[in-house]
Amino acid sequence: MPEQISTATDTGILQVPETIAIIMDGNGRWAKKRGLPRTAGHKKGADTIHTIGLEANRLGVKKLILYAVSTENWKRPEDEVGYLCKLPGLFFDRYIRDLMNNSIRVTFAGELERFPESTQKVIRKAVQQTEANTGLELCIAINYGSRRELLLAARQYAADVQAGTRDNDLTEEEFADYLFVPENVDLLIRTSGEERISNFLLWQLAYSELIFTPTAWPDFDENRLRECLEEFSRRDRRFGGIKA
Ligand code: IPE
Ligand code: IPE
Ligand code: MG
Repeated sequence: MPEQISTATDTGILQVPETIAIIMDGNGRWAKKRGLPRTAGHKKGADTIHTIGLEANRLGVKKLILYAVSTENWKRPEDEVGYLCKLPGLFFDRYIRDLMNNSIRVTFAGELERFPESTQKVIRKAVQQTEANTGLELCIAINYGSRRELLLAARQYAADVQAGTRDNDLTEEEFADYLFVPENVDLLIRTSGEERISNFLLWQLAYSELIFTPTAWPDFDENRLRECLEEFSRRDRRFGGIKA
């Protein structure tokens, strides 16, 4: 496992994780509390993606992976699912220029094919448009499930062995390359108080620091992120070893 990471002394944060993953939870409860439809929580949550993306970029985070739609979220009512399909279009219409201005590169993890053509198109366009950007990689996990990710990886590996392009002594690094997200995650944050992984990055979280915050995703902001990074800086990461 890689040791840390960069320092952002100008920000007062000791250690900035290279890779951060966030389970953006609590949009529905945030809206309900305000007497609004759940979709209003998702709308506000999309603005938080922009805020936190810019801040992570400013701090020098390399990759930020945001869990936006899980393989299980299709169970939700039709109007909510419909809104989640529209959200990428609304988000990029509003923020693509700002992402470009900050050299943020957009990528995706998950099976896009389940989304309507129009949604797939805006997503692919945003990926293409930001391809050459050299700042933060903003990776949006949509229709993502880690069990599905591992299953697809196993199937592809088996196919490669059968085709004779791979042999049997697959390494951990080579296996990771079959995944939607090959990197180890340094820090996982889940908002809104739930303390579970909900099928996110099961392989990649092996040695992540985990932070569960009660703040709902639409209320998460630069200060909350900073608090999480301060907490991360206090953690003693041993990766199974002992301190010298
Ligand atoms: C997270 O917020 C966004 C998605 C899962 C799409 P939720 O919609 O899960 O909000 P809560 O957990 O019901 O409050
Ligand atoms: C996890 O949140 C998925 C996303 C944030 C996209 P959920 O709200 O779907 O997870 P559970 O149902 O509380 O475990
Ligand atoms: Mg939830």
